[in-house]
Amino acid sequence: DIAPGAGNALDAIRGTRDFIAGAASETWGYSQEYLGPLLRFRRGRIANISVTNRLDEPITAHWHGMHVPGYLDGGPQLAFGPGETWAPELPIDHPAATLFYHSHIHGRTGPQVYRGLAGMIIIDDPGIKDPLPHDYGVNDFPLIVQDRRFDRSGRMIYGLGMMDRMHGFRGDQILVNGVVRPKLTVPAGLVRLRILNASNARVYDFRFTDGRQFHQVASDGGLLDRPLAMASLQLDGAERAEIVVDFSDRSPVSLVSRDIGMGGMMNGGMMGDGGGSMMMGDRGMMGDRGRMGDRGMMMGMGGNSGTPLEIMSFDVGEAAPAGPTRLPTSLPSDAPALGDPVRRRDFTLNMHTRGMMRGGMMGGDGQMMGINGEPYVMDRIDETIRAGETELWRINTDMMMRHTFHVHGTSFRVVRQNGRPVDSARIGWKDVVRVQGPTEILLRFDKLASEETPFMYHCHILEHEDVGMMGQFTVT
Ligand code: C2O
Ligand code: CU
Ligand code: CU
Repeated sequence: DIAPGAGNALDAIRGTRDFIAGAASETWGYSQEYLGPLLRFRRGRIANISVTNRLDEPITAHWHGMHVPGYLDGGPQLAFGPGETWAPELPIDHPAATLFYHSHIHGRTGPQVYRGLAGMIIIDDPGIKDPLPHDYGVNDFPLIVQDRRFDRSGRMIYGLGMMDRMHGFRGDQILVNGVVRPKLTVPAGLVRLRILNASNARVYDFRFTDGRQFHQVASDGGLLDRPLAMASLQLDGAERAEIVVDFSDRSPVSLVSRDIGMGGMMNGGMMGDGGGSMMMGDRGMMGDRGRMGDRGMMMGMGGNSGTPLEIMSFDVGEAAPAGPTRLPTSLPSDAPALGDPVRRRDFTLNMHTRGMMRGGMMGGDGQMMGINGEPYVMDRIDETIRAGETELWRINTDMMMRHTFHVHGTSFRVVRQNGRPVDSARIGWKDVVRVQGPTEILLRFDKLASEETPFMYHCHILEHEDVGMMGQFTVT
C-alpha cells in the first residue's frame, strides 16, 4: 500500500515470476516484479507520485478513471524514456471508487500492460460514512483479473497472430493479483470484492459455483445508489465492479466465469439485437470449442466453451471481528445531475481500410482500425470540447464484433443501448461501456486538457487501441 499524500515512488522494473511452478516468466512491474502496488488516495488530498522508468523503452502511468487534468493524466503524450522520472502532483477530486492505473504508450499499451505495467487505485472519501465492509485485507479485497497464455514450458507469452489482432489477445489461464487460480480465506460474513478486469481483451461473466446471489455496490466511477442483487456479472476490459458477498454459511465456493470466446464477442449488428450472446452463446450456432476451436476459422466465429473458466476459490474462516452484518438499503453515491445535452457527437468504431491495404492486418504494425474512419494520430486533435457543457455521445460500430468505449477525464452515464433506454442508476458512473450496437452516453467535463496533453477516447481492447482505434480531444 502507498499512504495517501506521502511522497510515493514507483519504479518501473523488470522481474521474473514463476506463474507456473518451475517456469520463470519475464515480467514487468511498478516497484514489484509483476503489476504495481495498490495505490490508495483520499479525496481532498494531493498525491505526490514519482514514477521512474528503469526499463529500456518509453512508458507512461495513466490513472484510468480518475478525474485529473490532461497534463496529469498519463496519456501517450506524457511518455517518459529509460532513466527518466515523471512526478505528477495529483489533486484527488474523485468520489470513493476503485480505479485502474497502467501504461499508455501509443502502439505498445497491449504488450506493456500484459507484461505487468498495471495496478489498482482505491479512492476513499472522508466525507462519507462507508456503510460497506472496508477493512482492507480483512473483509475488503482487491481482485485484479487477467488472462494469460503460457507456452509448453510454462512461460508467459504474448505474440499476435491474425486472430489476436482482429479480436484482441486472449489467454486460457486466469491470474488474480498475479497468481494462477489463488485460494483466498475470507471471514464468515459480508465481504467486499473489488473486481478489476485488467485483461487486454477478455470479457468475463462471473458467478459462484453454487449459484449464490451477491450484490453489486459500485461500478467504474463509484458507489451505486443502492446494492443490486445478482447471480452473475459481466465485465468487459477495464471495467470495475465492487460486489458484496455473504460468506456467513461458511461453505467453500469458487468464482468462475463463462468462457466467452470469440462467438460471444460477435455483436448484434447482423444477428439481431443482442444476438452476440444469444445466438452465439454457450450452445450457440457455431458449437463449442471442441468443434470449432477457440481460435476458430471464418473470422473467429468460434463459439463459447461450455466449460467455465476457474478464477479463484474461497475458504471461509472465523467471522470478522468488526464490520457490517447487513447491507444498507441505499448507498452514499455521488450523483451530480448532468441536465440536458447541448450537443451530440457520433463515433463509429471501424476498420481503417487504407491501413489494411498497407498490410497492417496481415502482420505489419500499421494502423488498421480507427474511429470515424481515421486511425489515431498523435498530433491530430479530433474533438474540441467546452468544459461544463453536457453532451450526448452516440457510439456505434460497423464491425461484426463487440468493442468497448473508454473516455478519459470524466465519468459518464449510459442512457441507451442497442436502441433501448437503460436504467442509468443501475449501471452507475462509468468510464468504459460495452459497444455491441448504438450506445448513448451523457457526459460533461470539468477537468481541462490542452492540445499538448489531450484526453483520449478509445476501445479498451488493447490490441484495437494499439492499431488505431483511439481519438483525442481538448477540453477548454
Ligand atoms: Cu485504461 Cu486510455 O485507458
Ligand atoms: Cu483511461
Ligand atoms: Cu475494439
